[in-house]
Amino acid sequence: MAIDQTDIRDLDRTRHVHGQTDMRAHHRNGPAAMVVSGNGVRIRTDDGRELIDGFSGLGCVSLGYHNDRLADAAKAQMDTLPYAPTFYGRSHPKIAVLAERLCKMAAVPFDKVMFQCSGSEANDAMIKFIWARNIARDEPKRRKLISRWRGYYGNTVAAVSLSGQPHMHANFGLPMDDFLKLSTPNYYLASTDGETEEEFSARMAQEFEDCILDAGPDTIAAFFAEPMQSGGGAIRPPQGYWPAMQAVMRKYGIHFHVDETVCGFGRTGEMWGAQKFGLEPDSTTCAKALTAAFFPMSAIMFKDELFKDLMKNSDEAGVLGHGFTYAGHPVGAAVALEALNIYDEMDLLGHVRRVSVPFLEGCEALMEHPLVGDVRGVGLFCGIQLVRDKDARTLWDPSLKVGAMVQDLAHKYGLYLRSIQPDRISFMPPLIINEDEVAEAQGILKTALDEAWVRLKDTA
Ligand SMILES: Cc1ncc(COP(=O)(O)O)c(C=O)c1O
Repeated sequence: MAIDQTDIRDLDRTRHVHGQTDMRAHHRNGPAAMVVSGNGVRIRTDDGRELIDGFSGLGCVSLGYHNDRLADAAKAQMDTLPYAPTFYGRSHPKIAVLAERLCKMAAVPFDKVMFQCSGSEANDAMIKFIWARNIARDEPKRRKLISRWRGYYGNTVAAVSLSGQPHMHANFGLPMDDFLKLSTPNYYLASTDGETEEEFSARMAQEFEDCILDAGPDTIAAFFAEPMQSGGGAIRPPQGYWPAMQAVMRKYGIHFHVDETVCGFGRTGEMWGAQKFGLEPDSTTCAKALTAAFFPMSAIMFKDELFKDLMKNSDEAGVLGHGFTYAGHPVGAAVALEALNIYDEMDLLGHVRRVSVPFLEGCEALMEHPLVGDVRGVGLFCGIQLVRDKDARTLWDPSLKVGAMVQDLAHKYGLYLRSIQPDRISFMPPLIINEDEVAEAQGILKTALDEAWVRLKDTA
């Protein structure tokens, strides 16, 4: 029996519980959008409208919404071997090849890869492995993890404790103990009057050092960070930030875990965000564009040194006591290998570097707009801060929901974007976007900003 679109919306409203969604609004109004298909950088909704996806799904749809090669790779793998566990030392060919390929292309020499199914699981696994390493080294007190407010590292119990998103903590009795937070390095909003980027960065590094000294250097297990923070709305690190932060890590011997879930695979114009910002990670998470979002898959990469300590753990327990049924899935491995082939063959990095020129110029031109206080981006990854007064750097009254207003207007005119509190627009289109599509998307964003300004200017 055919079910019509209105009924499907109602099924979603009455039966389907959504993550990161205002539950009451969804229960009242049904889905904010019902996406039925996609092609290239565009998605189509059930009302027949087409929108440019300015957020790559959730920062993951690197190759757009249709790709025969990825679909064929998945089908061929499903026809040959649709599932194989990776527990008990069992394996299958594609996952071994993918592990080798990731090690070879890593930002720094990594020796080992373990596959998981999501960014959250990958970060959780890494936390456990760092803790296990410290136990194996007879340093069991080294458990504290440092990350940054507004950072987003996932939703599993440990990864969410790492995340600096209060709405994901309060009603769950989280974060767990031992998770410490530093300030978001948002220079535009958090610098003092007259403070240069370098001075601001030095202040951030001093806060880091104070946090370590306060907690006790021998209790710190690791610092987790994204090269450019997507949580909080695409926050580009200010000048001098990473050199100063890495100097602190070196001084106290702190393990540096770099979360490349969003930055990895070309988003910044380099294969890894670590390369863009000169980072020297001890371990890394990658996910999302690993399979161009055609299959849920993530991986952690680390060095032999950590592997050897995990081996002690395995010697003691008989096995490494961690794993997921679907980790290292053969279909995911086949899709990931094909995605990496496509990235190479299309010269993804060359493409991102070319298109990012008009993309960033167009975003920066929005600085002329009375609503826009700050624009900062790299590659195809940009944060746009909406403000009430640019010079005074004052924000709009949150009850006006200015970011959501711009997001909804952009949606109305054909661009899907994300607004993130406080009134920050995160713009990261699929990496295959071309110059014409960039211009079209930015034209829509400008229209949305103009219309929002007409509504707001008497309040300013
Ligand atoms: C930087 C970062 N790490 C981890 C995650 C969690 O990934 P997942 O939603 O696949 O669990 C996300 C999700 O957006 C992310 O942006």
